[in-house]
Amino acid sequence: MFEEPSQFKKLVFKMKNIKEKPMFVKIPPYLNEKEREDRLELVDIGLKAGMEGITAINTVKVREPRLSTGYGGLSGKKIFKEMIKIVREIHLETNGKAIINACGGIFTGLDALEAFKAGATTIQLLTSFIYEGPGVINRINKQLLKLMHKHGYESLSEIKN
Ligand SMILES: Cc1cc2nc3c(=O)[nH]c(=O)nc-3n(C[C@H](O)[C@H](O)[C@H](O)COP(=O)(O)O)c2cc1C
Repeated sequence: MFEEPSQFKKLVFKMKNIKEKPMFVKIPPYLNEKEREDRLELVDIGLKAGMEGITAINTVKVREPRLSTGYGGLSGKKIFKEMIKIVREIHLETNGKAIINACGGIFTGLDALEAFKAGATTIQLLTSFIYEGPGVINRINKQLLKLMHKHGYESLSEIKN
């Protein structure tokens, strides 16, 4: 329902006045030009309404006849490339001003590095956490630190292009 820009606009402008905590707008992936324009409009509306940032992306809708609805949400490694592309596009469209929380198929420190390079400020993960448990955070942090050291990055903000 709130993927439709005019409905979404009503919601976020109401939230603007009553929210007490920082709020991020989470966007679904886009599969064609029309969806791309709609999603980028959601980003624009959200930021204009004073939302603190954007989380990209939600699961990718896939047909799955075994489910009663006929479709399901794909997460994990299969959506990583799409997530990176979308994070990069939002970063460019917002002239690097949006805080972007990258989410989708992040399993390793290298994945995290790619997300930061694409313009992410933070990363979030769920599927790798489901597979590996809380230890995944420590592993990704260690791998990321090693990569940052190797490439001469002293802070996360230095990674962003
Ligand atoms: C089991 C499961 C439940 C999810 N539930 C929600 C939800 O309630 N709300 C939401 O915004 N996203 C939900 N998601 C999407 C995730 O938050 C995330 O955007 C997506 O899975 C991509 O990240 P990942 O590949 O690290 O899992 C869910 C994903 C999974 C796998």
